[in-house]
Amino acid sequence: MEEEILKIKKEAVQQITAATAAELESLHIKFLGRKSLLAQLTARLRELPPAQKPLIGRLINETKRTIEQMLEEKSGALAKAEGEEFDLTLPALPQACGSLHPLTLVAEEIEEVFKNLGFVVAEGDEIEDEDHNFSALNIPLEHPSRDMFDTFYLEEGLHKKETQGRLLLRSHTSPAQIRVMRNLRPPLAVLVPGRVYRPDAVDATHSFMFHQIEGFAVDRDLRFSDLKGVLINFARKLFTAETQLRFRPSFFPFTEPSAEVDISCIICKGKGCTVCKGNGWLEVLGCGMIHPRVLQACGIDSKKWQGYAFGMGVERIAMLKFGIDDIRLFYNNHKKFLEQFNAF
Ligand code: PHE
Repeated sequence: MEEEILKIKKEAVQQITAATAAELESLHIKFLGRKSLLAQLTARLRELPPAQKPLIGRLINETKRTIEQMLEEKSGALAKAEGEEFDLTLPALPQACGSLHPLTLVAEEIEEVFKNLGFVVAEGDEIEDEDHNFSALNIPLEHPSRDMFDTFYLEEGLHKKETQGRLLLRSHTSPAQIRVMRNLRPPLAVLVPGRVYRPDAVDATHSFMFHQIEGFAVDRDLRFSDLKGVLINFARKLFTAETQLRFRPSFFPFTEPSAEVDISCIICKGKGCTVCKGNGWLEVLGCGMIHPRVLQACGIDSKKWQGYAFGMGVERIAMLKFGIDDIRLFYNNHKKFLEQFNAF
């Protein structure tokens, strides 16, 4: 039996010395497992004459320990060798690194232009009540201009105590004017970016959810010419220094007078092309002088203070800036589309 044990030991030494990391596990099972030759010899110990039992028993145990130790040392040595093969000087694997969404990029650029004029950025609430979204903005309950805004109402149970009217997803960022003006006193110059919701069917230029940036200022002696100056500066900073603006008289219940603003087509420079549908101008925002009733609804004396306000669609501006012809591209998360903005 002694000889058999020595033979096993010799074999183990040879095989473990030559083993690779992947083979160590099976060698462990082969030499030390429940069905190993050593285990079988241990079972046969009782057949031996009593005088030999302790001697052979000890030999088996020692052999087991030696093999165990060798396996451990070998596995340590292999791990170390592998570590040494690690080459610190190899160039790193390229990491896929995300980039900002084009709408974020454009919104941040717009914010930057106005921050440079002293505007501060505030956030409104995406869930609004009818008072902020309509009534305080001089849009009474039965006013027809509610129709195109009539939007997503929330369930009754969600009403908070301080809520006035039903809760809904805001249809524009203008309710943020009310929130700011009821909480801060003029002079004010504030920019409010955020999501808005409208019951519009989705197509290449419409979405039930899109982004707006609201801007407004309240001060003494503010005039329409201040508004024009601020918007001309914005258009020329965001597009080109040659960009022209056209103010068309319009109507919003919360501004008086009101205007819609077009920029000279940045594609054809006003000559007429498919983007501007041949007329040389592109509509980009709505604006006007804040209606005295809106100031009054916020407890601001409209005899002492005047204000102007404007609201623009971020998607619209981003589409013009980047030459994007389908609004849906902003929302469907196609990597190929989004990756193009890495460089901006
Ligand atoms: N809230 C208006 C809209 O969503 C835009 C606007 C904002 C007009 C501020 C005038 C002043 O269409």
